[in-house]
Amino acid sequence: MANDSSTKAEGKRDKVVLAYSGGLDTSVDIHWLKENYNVDVIAISVNVGQPPNEDDIVARALRNGAIKSDFFDVRKEFVEEYVWPLVKANGLYQDIYPLSTAIARPLMAKTLVKIAKQEGAKYIAHGCTGKGNDQVRFDAGIVAQDPDLKILAPQREWVTSRDEEIDYAAEHGIEIKAKKSSPFSRDENLWGASCECGALENAWEEPPAGVWAHTVDPEKAPNTPTYIEIEFEQGVPVGLDGKRMDGVELIEKLNKVAGDNGVGRIDHVEDRLVGIKSRETYECPAAVTIITAHKAIEAMTLQREVLDFKRGIEQKFTRMVYDGQWFGGLREPINAFIDATQKYVNGTVRVKLFKGSVTVVGRKSPTSLYDTGLATYSKDTVDTFDHKAAMGFIYVWGLPDQTAARAHKEKQ
Ligand code: ARG
Repeated sequence: MANDSSTKAEGKRDKVVLAYSGGLDTSVDIHWLKENYNVDVIAISVNVGQPPNEDDIVARALRNGAIKSDFFDVRKEFVEEYVWPLVKANGLYQDIYPLSTAIARPLMAKTLVKIAKQEGAKYIAHGCTGKGNDQVRFDAGIVAQDPDLKILAPQREWVTSRDEEIDYAAEHGIEIKAKKSSPFSRDENLWGASCECGALENAWEEPPAGVWAHTVDPEKAPNTPTYIEIEFEQGVPVGLDGKRMDGVELIEKLNKVAGDNGVGRIDHVEDRLVGIKSRETYECPAAVTIITAHKAIEAMTLQREVLDFKRGIEQKFTRMVYDGQWFGGLREPINAFIDATQKYVNGTVRVKLFKGSVTVVGRKSPTSLYDTGLATYSKDTVDTFDHKAAMGFIYVWGLPDQTAARAHKEKQ
């Protein structure tokens, strides 16, 4: 429910819907937007699994000058409509980053546009800088839904340091939680957490212990492995260790158990859409575990041609998510293709979590293409393969090259 501030009168000013995280940038932005654009600010928090609780964040936005503040818990929609399509696509940008930040942006943009319509707001604002990907995902995502909305991005117009922002907050009585000593820029949700800046800007330096906030150091993880069984239906995880559960709970549980085993730490130099290479770390225990398991169940249930062709489509989809093209014309057709491939991606994968690694150690499927009768070399299993047929197959398979070799030999 929206909370109206009793102290602010509704004026004739234009309204701006601000994507409010409760952090330093967006707290300062409330004041800055009012001061520079003479607008009423409606602060919206879209919860996709990041920590600040509802009461805390809504009240803080109002105290910091928003005329309204609201909190939307969209975790279920996030998992079912955004994360699961990514799992079906084995979504790893540059083969390593599970797109945890990127995949949250379209749902945030969708929620902001919905509120802007309800409120008759002219603007949507966000706290992204001009050097990152998130601004692209928000701006492009917003205008793709409503081309008449205008975007305001204070951190793009008012390029300032973190310490200057803290001083600005003190000067204007803005309540913030940040301390000057925090060197990192973080973002987090159910699908993972990211960390940039500070010591990480030196790409040669090992990430200091302080960057890791959600996983146990693999060296300090338990000395005995943990085994987990993940059940899939049509490419989507539906249960853990024989117990069915909804997606939010499943991801939360896996983040904990895989994170406790040091799984999901990523250190990467990544290509941003805006042309900059950036050194980032991620902690995505559930994402890494699920994608590893999903690839294993696909290996057992999809034909080689499908696996091969899908690989290219996965790359395209992954790139579109990273590049902020969720609302573009290609996303739905691509998802339709990927969904069609998942019809028989059913079964259970057993993974072993141990000191930072996740290893697939078993898989079974009611729609398996793995046929022991065909595969066996054992004397104890009935062999169903027609061995003699291999000769005819190879004769035809090798015929073009055999023909060429003969023709070229005769010409020499
Ligand atoms: N580099 C990642 C991405 O572009 C993570 C960005 C983190 N965003 C943030 N506002 N700190 O998706």
